[in-house]
Amino acid sequence: MTAQTLAGARLLLIIGGGVAAYKSLDLIRRLRERGSAVNVAMSAAAQRFVTPLSAEALSGRPVRTDLFAPTEHSGMGHIEYSRDADLLVVAPATADLLARMAHGLADDLATTTLLATDKRTLVAPAMNVRMWLHPATQRNVASLRGDGVLFVGPDDGEMACGEFGPGRMAEPLAIVAAVERALQSPTLLPPPPGAGPLAGRRVVVTSGPTYEPIDPVRFLGNRSSGKQGHAIAAAARAAGAETILVSGPTALADPPGVKVVKIETARAMRDATIAALPADVFVAAAAVADWRVADASAEKIKKGSGGAPALELAENPDILAEVAARRGDRPTLVIGFAAETQALIDNARAKLERKGCDLIVANSVAAGEGTFGGADNQVTIVTADGIEEWPRMSKEEVARALVMLAARKLAGST
Ligand code: CTP
Repeated sequence: MTAQTLAGARLLLIIGGGVAAYKSLDLIRRLRERGSAVNVAMSAAAQRFVTPLSAEALSGRPVRTDLFAPTEHSGMGHIEYSRDADLLVVAPATADLLARMAHGLADDLATTTLLATDKRTLVAPAMNVRMWLHPATQRNVASLRGDGVLFVGPDDGEMACGEFGPGRMAEPLAIVAAVERALQSPTLLPPPPGAGPLAGRRVVVTSGPTYEPIDPVRFLGNRSSGKQGHAIAAAARAAGAETILVSGPTALADPPGVKVVKIETARAMRDATIAALPADVFVAAAAVADWRVADASAEKIKKGSGGAPALELAENPDILAEVAARRGDRPTLVIGFAAETQALIDNARAKLERKGCDLIVANSVAAGEGTFGGADNQVTIVTADGIEEWPRMSKEEVARALVMLAARKLAGST
């Protein structure tokens, strides 16, 4: 028997109008085999490729096709349909359907259902290769990703139209695997507003390095990748918090549902952080440059003949210390990081005191640890009450654990 990896899941499959619609019939079977209930809605175009009768036979449920059909729950089917689902799956999603989703149109059952939902949506696109690669489609995909929509495929290969390239709908089993991931991983997408242990809370996170200009082309920077800070922002949002991420230059994608403010210098990070207050939790995960060039040159410094230029440095504002010292809008929980190469715990304790924060996440950045830019982190939590060493985990796991700890501390403080 097939493993019941989707036992109890309630899925809503929206079938769009494409040749790949026939594969969606197999998808229904595969999903049900794994224990999920599958409701099906079909667009008008989908019915040109497969019949509602087939979908009905395979899903064992009535299939909806018409937004205004009087027999279909007095015209409220789209609301009820999405309310009853744990996940919406759109397969195949045509270029037209993606465009209408990206623009929030709602002129038929499929688009109305997709707009009336606060649930996650997983999309399996299928279209001609040039339609997929067209900038308009790619723009729509990018904005849907920004909204937190998940994608599976399209695959590369020969297409029904005889062309080769990306555009073929992912195979049903690949879609099933994506459904399993979407239902399992809470950080893939934020929960609906108002749910989760940080619902109703506001979290501000700094992340990444800062760049301090020497002249218009050169800067002082550091090796921070921003992975830990971005993971914390994603985890805070996944826990239901309204989340603002103040980020230095990184190569990372914006976490879904998080408001991202992009800055370059420590001073800009400080200003954006203060502007983001008030907050319940502040997490200073950024590797803020301690110094800036006192008098950055407006013109590119030429090599000339005078030898290497002497750079005079000035101290940057300490954002963590400033937030911790605020009156009136000091966050309930102020969390700092201590990146140390030696005497980790002593230095972290000293930092806790000196900066006036409530908790320090201490991690070693000694050579060979692979923390900077790496996927894992081994941290020790330092508070006035003592220390707690956490095992080596992925940065996402550290983020989730830290967010749960913050939620517990907030719950205890109110
Ligand atoms: N931090 C900050 N603003 C700064 C410097 C640091 O907000 N100008 C924050 C970091 O985000 C981190 C914590 O302070 O949460 C400690 O950063 P770290 O670089 O380890 O400490 P420093 O204060 O720079 O002290 P030192 O360089 O002496 O270790």
